[in-house]
Amino acid sequence: MTTFNKITREKIIEYLQQVEEPVLKEDIISLGLVREIEIDKKHVFLHMEDSSGDPKVREILKVNIQHVLELSGGVEEVTVHFSNVKTEEKNSTRQRPIPGIKHVIAVASGKGGVGKSTVAVNLALALQSLGARVGLMDGDIYGPNIPIMLGISSSKRPEGNAEGKILPLEAYHLKTISIGFFANPEQPVIWRGPLLHKTIEQFLHQVEWGELDYLIVDMPPGTGDVQLSLAQWVRLAGAVIVSTPQEVALSDVRKAVNMFRQLEVKILGVVENMTGPVFGKGGGEKMAEVLQVPFLGAIPLEAQIRECGDSGTPIVVAQPKSLLRGYFIQIAEAIRQTVR
Ligand SMILES: Nc1ncnc2c1ncn2[C@@H]1O[C@H](COP(=O)(O)OP(=O)(O)OP(=O)(O)O)[C@@H](O)[C@H]1O
Ligand SMILES: [Mg+2]
Repeated sequence: MTTFNKITREKIIEYLQQVEEPVLKEDIISLGLVREIEIDKKHVFLHMEDSSGDPKVREILKVNIQHVLELSGGVEEVTVHFSNVKTEEKNSTRQRPIPGIKHVIAVASGKGGVGKSTVAVNLALALQSLGARVGLMDGDIYGPNIPIMLGISSSKRPEGNAEGKILPLEAYHLKTISIGFFANPEQPVIWRGPLLHKTIEQFLHQVEWGELDYLIVDMPPGTGDVQLSLAQWVRLAGAVIVSTPQEVALSDVRKAVNMFRQLEVKILGVVENMTGPVFGKGGGEKMAEVLQVPFLGAIPLEAQIRECGDSGTPIVVAQPKSLLRGYFIQIAEAIRQTVR
């Protein structure tokens, strides 16, 4: 039996994270230089932003990209196309406002498991309790967590309206959409790039969100193609970066911040999550200082926060009088101050 080493988009992204832009000294994925990836059997086409306009830099990038992808074992030919995004993308017509939605805010991080979804859900509910009209989009196409965190039954499916738009589901008066509402939970979701890009577009533009002050988007971990896609389909009011307090988290936060900067998305600030005796405290504030972005607040590591998330009643609604809710309210207030 022969083993066919099939290359996937996710694997390509992983490999490309090893390629450093020679001038900026960051990997090309974090920098958001890779605009599109197409796979045709063993032939990979990459559309890249021309970061420097320097043919020597382009040549180095091309050689290094070909080198890492050929090492993957599943790729035989690589075509790299460079385009000057500074002129092409700025006039992009793909990026269009969503009628009725004032601000779209991404909740992101450089790394998985730091509490993005927890922050996104509780922040959305906190903004709502301050009187704002809020929606929550689950941008995590590979591992959606929003349905469980909001306690939405796996048998519930969104319906379409007369205009063919998708009606979001609602929990705690929060309108929400997630790939988890459509996919069979038993089946692993293997996305081809164009499908992923299309799904993000549909979640933004084909969902009947109604009038919203804020649409919060829970992002998947890392600095990959969902981030690129989101920034291409809609003008973001900004990104909230979640981090844990440790020193080592700095490089992940830096990556996330750089990627959004590259996409010309404003960084609204850093939230330090899981503060306390286990992971320490204060790292997030230092990071914010180093990276020159606002510090939005810290949230302690507390079993109750996890329990509430697991049981589908986020802490902000489960414990309306608790101190823990107060942390999220504070962050929501800081955001409301900057994005109005
Ligand atoms: N402040 C906190 N205190 C205790 N547990 C927390 C806290 N924040 C998040 N958790 C728990 O940590 C786990 C990871 O959190 P969460 O799913 O929000 O992270 P994530 O960054 O969205 O992860 P992924 O990268 O997989 O999407 C969850 O079980 C969550 O309940
Ligand atoms: Mg998550």
